Amino acid sequence: MSDGPTPPVEQMATATLNDAVTVPVQKHAFSDRVPIRSILSRPDGGAGIAGQRVRVGGWVKTGREQGKGSFAFLELNDGTCQANLQVIVEASVADLGQLVATGTCVVVDGVLKLPPEGTRQKVELRVEQVVHVGLVDPAKYPLPKTRLTLEFLRDFVHLRPKTNTISAVARIRNALAYATHTFFQKHGFLYVHTPIITTSDCEGAGEMFQVTTLITDSEKREKELIKNPPPSEDDVEAAKILVKEKGEAVTQLKSVKASKEEISASVAELTKAKENLSRLEDRAKLKPGIPQKEGKIDYAQDFFARQAFLTVSGQLQVESFACCLSSVYTFGPTFRAEHSHTSRHLAEFWMVEPEIAFAELKDDMNCAEAYVKFLCQWLLDECLDDMEFMAKNFDKTCIDRLRMVASTPFERITYTEAVELLKKVTDKKFDNEVEWGIDLASEHERYLTEVLFKKPVIVYNYPKDIKAFYMRLNDDSKTVAAMDVLVPKVGELIGGSQREERYENISKRIVEMGLPLEPYEWYLDLRRYGTVKHSGFGLGFERMILFATGMDNIRDVIPFPRYPGRADL
Ligand code: 4AD
Ligand code: MG
Repeated sequence: MSDGPTPPVEQMATATLNDAVTVPVQKHAFSDRVPIRSILSRPDGGAGIAGQRVRVGGWVKTGREQGKGSFAFLELNDGTCQANLQVIVEASVADLGQLVATGTCVVVDGVLKLPPEGTRQKVELRVEQVVHVGLVDPAKYPLPKTRLTLEFLRDFVHLRPKTNTISAVARIRNALAYATHTFFQKHGFLYVHTPIITTSDCEGAGEMFQVTTLITDSEKREKELIKNPPPSEDDVEAAKILVKEKGEAVTQLKSVKASKEEISASVAELTKAKENLSRLEDRAKLKPGIPQKEGKIDYAQDFFARQAFLTVSGQLQVESFACCLSSVYTFGPTFRAEHSHTSRHLAEFWMVEPEIAFAELKDDMNCAEAYVKFLCQWLLDECLDDMEFMAKNFDKTCIDRLRMVASTPFERITYTEAVELLKKVTDKKFDNEVEWGIDLASEHERYLTEVLFKKPVIVYNYPKDIKAFYMRLNDDSKTVAAMDVLVPKVGELIGGSQREERYENISKRIVEMGLPLEPYEWYLDLRRYGTVKHSGFGLGFERMILFATGMDNIRDVIPFPRYPGRADL
């Protein structure tokens, strides 16, 4: 799990609630300062702990000198919450000019005070001592105080968490990760780490990034060959003659019954000549370029002695655990080499994939619905300040949307019903014509969830020809037990299915879809030995964050976005 919970802060906040003055506000468990959140996120906004002496650290959001330079106000933020702590420093305590630049890091000791009546803050900090200053040259700092566009910030992915928006998104993302583990652990699911490097294409869509050392190996070899050219045929021939001569010398000495010492000296020379020959022969074989065999790349010489890829989904591997541990989930990065430049696609994204044994499509839908509702409620309970920030700055409706989803049953319709409904639409002209058998486009999905139903919609029983090989064939032989969860703002949030547990059916499907059987033999074993009905789904984690926050572009809800043409840091 990459993102951890923040319970110590919560505990501190409640520990000081009832007995504010006598119980000192506590320092962070592993750092010599009080997190700003444990001061400001108290229900009293910190007023109840006025009078206490604390050390805080953070970065200046806004700083200004006042009273003709006799003191400075600093809005200090340490990332533990959206709110800033107002800090007041007198000129007698520090060089104010150094402190006020946006981005400056300061650690200060001081006393919490009630601010004058009528001010916004419930508490402020009067500084007694400045312990540390991490300077910023405002002329060079790339993130000045002016409002910066999200596009601009993508050029500074290492600095952008210093902004209110990216830090709010980071806290919401963390909360959703924690909520995910909480939900599945609470329901008895086991967390399984599936591999990043894989040799099977889960979706069979051929959108995988290849993992190979053939290219770097060949480049290394090329450099080595330039530095140290391979031996010529003549060199090898000369080395062969030397071996022959040394061999004859040994035979000769043996035949005249020479002394032991003489013979072993001669054998040693022969051994040296043989070693030299074999080294030359090996080096003579060295060729620039990628190794080939029968006109194709020779993957036997690759790192894994076969072709390997970055995973597009942990599903197939997690199924092998579901088929013995019953309820499992994986949550990790997945990779797709799609050349999509949309605001909903990344080349590297995170997916949450539960897999439930003894479960049919209906159970799968129930699980997906309960999980999404749980995530929404979690954000309302745990992240309201950051959600309010998002509502104020990005999407006025985002909090209402969370409330609606947390409390409204999802609509469930079959693909066939969805197509019928979309065909009847007259108030909108779709770019892609609707017809039974097409893969629903984002415009159709969003129309269903945003316009027709105005709530999440689960579409199920899709035509088999547009879905992956592992989905269970329905009795009509035309559709598979697949389901997609569509939500307003995003469209497809979840894709899942009941898995084809019948050996005959699934092996037939693999062949029908033109996939090679060999890489899936292990997967077929799950059906050969103790097969079980099972179902699962994948939730695109960044899509969930888009849905929750109302952000428009998926590149702004993952810390380090990867998309065609871009992989910074
Ligand atoms: O529908 P998908 O392709 O399903 C699977 O990968 C299944 N193996 C999951 C399973 O059953 N265990 O992807 C699942 C979800 C999508 O609904 C979408 O939210 C997200 O992953 N997703 C992407 N998110 C960001 N960028 C991309 N390129 C994405 N592709 C899929
Ligand atoms: Mg899908």
